[in-house]
Order: sequence, then structure tokens, then C-alpha cells
Amino acid sequence: MPQLHKTQICIIGAGPSGLLLSQLLAQAGIDTIVLDRKDRTYIEGRIRAGVLEQGTVEALKQAGVADRLHAQGLPHDGFELAFDGVRHRIDLKALTGRSVMVYGQTEVTKDLFDARFADGQTFFFNVDHVTPNDLKSDRPKVHFTQGGEQHVITCDYIAGCDGFHGVSRAAIPQNVLKTFERVYPFGWLGILVDKPPVSHELLYANHAEGFALASMRSETRSRYYIQCDRGDDIANWSDRRFWETFATRLGPDAAANLQTGPSFEKSIAPLRSFVAEPMRYGNLFLAGDAAHIVPPTGAKGLNLAVADIRLLSRALIEHYAGNDHHIDSYSQTALNRVWKVERFSWQLSTLMHQFPENSPFEKRIQRAEFDYIAGSEAASKTIAENYVGLPLE
Ligand code: APR
Ligand code: PHB
Repeated sequence: MPQLHKTQICIIGAGPSGLLLSQLLAQAGIDTIVLDRKDRTYIEGRIRAGVLEQGTVEALKQAGVADRLHAQGLPHDGFELAFDGVRHRIDLKALTGRSVMVYGQTEVTKDLFDARFADGQTFFFNVDHVTPNDLKSDRPKVHFTQGGEQHVITCDYIAGCDGFHGVSRAAIPQNVLKTFERVYPFGWLGILVDKPPVSHELLYANHAEGFALASMRSETRSRYYIQCDRGDDIANWSDRRFWETFATRLGPDAAANLQTGPSFEKSIAPLRSFVAEPMRYGNLFLAGDAAHIVPPTGAKGLNLAVADIRLLSRALIEHYAGNDHHIDSYSQTALNRVWKVERFSWQLSTLMHQFPENSPFEKRIQRAEFDYIAGSEAASKTIAENYVGLPLE
């Protein structure tokens, strides 16, 4: 006999999306159960991006999980683009009146876990065979197993926050779900190193040999990336080869301040743009990476997930207060924003990388676009307003 459980919202996935949703709903007195196929230690160990929009910071503050973020995060008023060593600063503050916060997603996840554990959240970790069922009924269910035991959760709604490889999106019938995808012909090789960042602000560089990004986690810890081949093997990249490649791509001006050292994390991630429509099917809602992926060039993955959760938490809270307006518009409202952020992430990726298939014509166009941005306040402002984050709706 399976063990039976009941809750208002069953949340599949304990990444930032699922954790923030459970936190915001708990504050409104709404009961949730959170499932994940991994455990807390594993989830906290994932290394992801580190730039938070002001709207994301405000949402985390409203959720009561921003104390460490405010103490340790680094406010950034601008960042730089470079093309063949020529640098152009995007002055976020002057162009938009806003800034961004550099604070690792790993830390955001830890803060959310701390808050949910302190609050006594019900979690099931290391679960298998997670299956959302009866999505069109008003009593949807989630079946799963844990340590060989069967469980069933009956709920009002299911939140599919289980990332790109989760089961929630796959539970939407094939004839309903539309997906849109672009796979880029390269990946990002990223390292962490305990050396001060090469520059106080982030620097995105396009060089004839490929893209490089200088980012950071703190004043003493740097996060650096280079464009590599899609199928490249990490074994091909000694620290020495990484540093030589990285320095070349930054250009002599920026590289003059580069402090190298042994990397303590090194991994390759593919680049992809992906959107699934709709983001609701019956009583299942998709949010975060379960519904969409952006290439990391605009640092939008986590920010987009948080925007979804702001919309979804509001919709669910209003539902329990007797108003279904936002629950009915969730998918369309979220997708309107998702597509704009997809556009920006695609555009910045297209501008800043070397595409193997590009002809000399396209390379000149790329160069002309950079020159235009560098010489035009209007063009710089377009980039700035996207980078600091578009309005929620
Ligand atoms: N059953 C239960 N849990 C699952 C399943 C499953 N079948 N499949 C995946 N999960 C869990 C994963 O183990 C992971 O902890 O769902 C969680 C999804 O978390 P994320 O992938 O971090 O997705 P999300 O919470 O939407 O976060 C979006 O994180 O992935 C980055 O770039 C992304 O920054 C963005 C943010
Ligand atoms: C990071 O710090 O990991 C990072 C920053 C900006 C990006 C992507 C990743 O666009």
C-alpha cells in the first residue's frame, strides 16, 4: 500500500524555483510539499551563474532570505563589453538608474534551504519514479518512490520546478506542448579560482579566437569562462592552456591585471535557447528551467526563474483568496516576458561569440554592431535595460 499525503501545492524540484515558491507560499499560509530526486548537499553543490537583477533581489528580500545577500553581495553599477581588445563600458546606473548584484546562485540556494528548514518544510529527497497524474482533475496527484517505498501526494495544484531534465514538462500531452529550441555550436568552459578578479566589473570579450567572460564570486574569488567546442573534453584543458587562452581573448589591456592560480572547479556547459508553451496544463504549472533555458551570456537563467515564481506565487495566493484572474493568465504573462529575455540572451550570445559557420560578411556585421553600441547611448541603453531586468509584466 502506498503512503498517502495531502497538501495544497505539490512542488516537484528543490532548485531555486521550487524553494522560492515554497517560501513565498508558506509566508501566505499555503501548505506545500517539495520533492527532489537529489539531496540538499548535491543541490547546493551545483555551480551556476551569479548576477541578480534588482527585481530578483527584491523578491528574495520579500521572501525574507536576503540578509546574507545584502551583507556579502557585490553591487555592480556597470559591466564591460570588449571586441578584439577594445573595451566599452555599459554604465547600468547612468543609463537605467538601476544596478545588479553579484552573488552566486549556490548561495541563493543555501539561503533558501536554511529558511525552509527553519520553517519545518516537508521535503522528500532522493525520490524516484516521480509521476504527475490526473492533471485535468481538481485533485491532481503525484506518485513517487523513496527508498523502495511508494508514496502518493494529493493536492490542489502541482508546480513543475524540476529543471530542463525533469518529468513535469513531459507530462503535458504531445499534441498540446510546443517547444522551440536553438542549440549553439559551442560550449562554455568555466573555472573557479581563489584570486582577485581581473577587473572590478564583469567583462564579456569577443576575440577572433572566441569568447571569454571575466566574472567573480567575491573580492578574492574569480569565475572565468571561455568559449570551447561543443563536444570538447575537459581533459583537453590544463590550467595552463586555460590561462593562456583566457588572457589572449581578454586582450592585453585587461589581461595585464590577470592573476592566475590553480583552478578548483572546471566544467563545460552547452549553450541552448529553449521555450516550452504553454506553461500551464490543467492543474500543472511549469516554472524556471522546466519551461525554458537561456544561454548564460546575459546571466538570465536564475532571474527568469525568479520572475516566473513571482507571478506564480501571486496567482496561487490570489486563488486561495477567491480570485482566479492571475492563475488564468499565468502562462501567457510569463511567456510574454520569457520570450523577451530569450531574445536578449540570444542577441548578446550572437554578438559576443565566434560562430564556426560565420562568413567574413557576418563577422564584419558583428564588429559593426559592437561599434554601433560603443558609439550610441541609445544602443547601450537597450542593452542596459535588458541586463538590469525588464519589468515583471
Ligand atoms: N523528480 C524530482 N526532482 C527532479 C526531477 C524529478 N524527476 N528532475 C529534476 N529534479 C530536480 C533537480 O534535481 C533539481 O534540484 O529539480 C531541480 C531543478 O532545479 P534547477 O535545474 O536548478 O531549476 P530551477 O529551480 O528552475 O532553477 C533555475 O537554476 O538551472 C539553473 O540556469 C538555471 O539559473 C537557473 C535556475
Ligand atoms: C557567473 O558569474 O557565473 C556569470 C556571470 C555572468 C554571466 C554568466 C555567468 O553572464
